[in-house]
Amino acid sequence: MALKSEIQRRRTFAIISHPDAGKTTLTEKLLLFGGAIHVAGAVKSNKIKKGATSDFMEIERQRGISVATSVMGFEYEGIKVNILDTPGHEDFAEDTYRTLTAVDSVIIVVDCAKGVELQTRKLMNVCRMRNTPVIVFVNKLDRDGKDPFEILDEIERELDIKVRPLSWPISMGLTFKGVYNMFEQKLNLFLGNKKQGVTDDIVEIDDINSEVLDKHVGGYADTLREDLELVNGVYPEFSRETYLKGEVAPVFFGSALNNFGVRELLSCFISIAPFPKPTATETREVSPFEENLTGFIFKIHANMDPKHRDRLAFLKICSGVFERNKPYLHTRIGKRLKFSSPTAFMADKKSVVDIAYPGDIVGLHDTGNFKIGDTITQGEQLKFKGLPSFSPELFRYIENADPMKYKQLAKGIDQLMDEGVAQLFTSKANGRKIIGTVGVLQFDVIQYRLEHEYSALCRYEPITLYKACWIESDNMEQLKDFRVRKHSNLAIDKHGREVFMAESPYALQMAQDKFTDIKFHFSTEF
Ligand code: G4P
Repeated sequence: MALKSEIQRRRTFAIISHPDAGKTTLTEKLLLFGGAIHVAGAVKSNKIKKGATSDFMEIERQRGISVATSVMGFEYEGIKVNILDTPGHEDFAEDTYRTLTAVDSVIIVVDCAKGVELQTRKLMNVCRMRNTPVIVFVNKLDRDGKDPFEILDEIERELDIKVRPLSWPISMGLTFKGVYNMFEQKLNLFLGNKKQGVTDDIVEIDDINSEVLDKHVGGYADTLREDLELVNGVYPEFSRETYLKGEVAPVFFGSALNNFGVRELLSCFISIAPFPKPTATETREVSPFEENLTGFIFKIHANMDPKHRDRLAFLKICSGVFERNKPYLHTRIGKRLKFSSPTAFMADKKSVVDIAYPGDIVGLHDTGNFKIGDTITQGEQLKFKGLPSFSPELFRYIENADPMKYKQLAKGIDQLMDEGVAQLFTSKANGRKIIGTVGVLQFDVIQYRLEHEYSALCRYEPITLYKACWIESDNMEQLKDFRVRKHSNLAIDKHGREVFMAESPYALQMAQDKFTDIKFHFSTEF
């Protein structure tokens, strides 16, 4: 019984946005409302400061901060909220993709002036793959931005999801008056400049036609009435069911910096967001309510200090109860492991945890046993699905620069790939190793870490590639023909899967047109 209620009171989610839309600010304000921190600025952002974008050592320094904010847990009105942080730098998008496999829902932050930007579109595609429920927060209403109807159209179009506004802004920029909360039928007045506090000026309005509204927002009252009529005419009633299926995204408006609209967002979030859902394995679905513990590793954080080579593996608990010092089966290596100091995360604090429930994230100290995607159980031989790899965007050959250190290099590359720093492909034509990344910074990170952690030297050589596509086909004849003709473009990924390395969009298109029975996938989840 305790297990059931512990599961039902958990909300594990991530906040995603294009850099600068306000993810860090919103996270911090949620923590303020949750009482997890008491002053703004208490939780350091894992955001890579502007101007440091080419300085990866600075980024690594800040990774130290990001481990502290990897998971931020707090209690709010009896609900245990777990916010999973995602890297603020686009070059680490692959980390974000993986984090999204460990959450039950997502809040997307959109800048009201910039609208939906590229990174948000990419992340939404990942959410769509598993129908993750999303709530949208349109931020920075204290500045001039696009017309709210225009923003809603843009979200529907660009993110390919239906929307239902649950709050509505009254003007914006210098004349921003506040938001009308349709979910709770309250008017929130914007007084500005309340960056530190957590109280809003709220007026309860039973009837939108009441004069109280005119009293508070003057000439904007009629515009609000018209807008609301239009909203209710255009958008269907909010239904939690369609939200939970990932079909409709409720939308809130506000200003995270001014703490405005954040409380509404949080109280709606805890009442509608899902508790941990069943998780698919290769053989069966695991319900969170099952008694036996199961979980998977979705992130590994390495300590770059060569004197402390420990790593922290992040376990998402999918079912049962996790207990400290109890032996659990690491299903890939078939060994039982005990964890004497598993870590739980509460806002900016880490602490040793004795017990944890589905939806929670536990940090496990690791000396090299774990790879991303590994499964932990109480004895059952299971393998959780759904930690896809996505086609990298950038590619380089990696070569050994010190013939005496061949072994070290191979080991280093192997371990860094297990951590998910980048992806490795081996050309079928010449056996050369190709590193694929999402951002240019990872190449520097790999080179630096190989040298400092493994005493190995590498150098890169350019290669012109557009995408890595995982291929599959039922037509063995065609596959055979493809393998012969495209031999020089074929490679094997780290798990032995066959990959077509397309040189250009044109080359990919040609291959797709000619070999119609072959499927070309941009991610390993197919
Ligand atoms: P990110 O994590 O999504 O990258 O964004 P972050 O929260 O760091 O916000 C980016 C910038 O936008 C910050 O300003 C932040 O203060 C500002 N911001 C966030 N929410 C609002 C809002 O509601 N209204 C306004 N006007 N600005 C907002 P910065 O100058 O880049 O950084 P900082 O020096 O303020 O930290």
